Amino acid sequence: MIAAMSTHHECIPPERLLSVAVDAAKAAGKVLLHYAESGFHIEHKNPINLVTDADHAAEQCIIDHVRRYFPTHRTLAEERGIDAERSSSYCWIIDPLDGTTNFAHGFPIYSVSIGVACEDDLLIGVVYDPTRDELFSATAGQGASLNGGSISVSKTTQLDAALTVTGFAYDIRDTPNNNLDHFARFALTAQGVRRTGSAALDLCYVASGRFDGFWEVKLSPWDMAAGVVIVQEAGGRITDLRGNAHSIHQPEVVASNGRIHTEMLGVIQENLRP
Ligand code: IPD
Ligand code: CA
Ligand code: CA
Repeated sequence: MIAAMSTHHECIPPERLLSVAVDAAKAAGKVLLHYAESGFHIEHKNPINLVTDADHAAEQCIIDHVRRYFPTHRTLAEERGIDAERSSSYCWIIDPLDGTTNFAHGFPIYSVSIGVACEDDLLIGVVYDPTRDELFSATAGQGASLNGGSISVSKTTQLDAALTVTGFAYDIRDTPNNNLDHFARFALTAQGVRRTGSAALDLCYVASGRFDGFWEVKLSPWDMAAGVVIVQEAGGRITDLRGNAHSIHQPEVVASNGRIHTEMLGVIQENLRP
């Protein structure tokens, strides 16, 4: 059993962290479904970046769960940011609603994403899709699962035969670094390119073989923390756009089944300036 250590000599069995993360994700998923059925209020962070009261309520639900079991742990959550005054080495990295635009339109592809890190090590990833009741999870070193059954990445060996997926940041209208150049190249080289609107699910779909590869250029830690562990534990590969080691604290990600990774990096490389 891997037990995470901290500078404060905390040592929490990973199955305890996983169990709280799963309960929190499922509870937040219920909150989202409740708002989806009963209605919600939408605010604009910018003309195309929305936030609803469902985002806030689901986030509160997750934070309450974490505080109940681990009151000293830090949290980094999309809507409230970092809660840094706590002393623990553990940090819960939370996107309460990944896919807000889909949610706001009643398009049923969205998720709750919860990652748990100790210092720089990602230990736990849980992504819950409440509309399909699909729970993806992984513990570092122990494999990945979907609703309790083991999952692994696809065996596709060529981009030509690969289904890929990407997404676009909310500054797409304001910057040339908007991923449209990569999107165009993948549209011409992969078998298909999709845009689901939930990066956390994109990563889980790579982990479970539904997609062969995923890339984005401007994600935040809460979009990726859980999904990165799930892809790695499902046998996939994660790097930045140049093939270097990935960190959730930088915005780029390329995730794949490993077999098409070099080809994906090659397509991206064609657009990258030195
Ligand atoms: C967004 C989604 C989307 C991705 C964007 C993210 P949000 O998160 O993950 O798929 O393309 O870059 O910001 O705003 O729905 O939590
Ligand atoms: Ca997100
Ligand atoms: Ca979100």
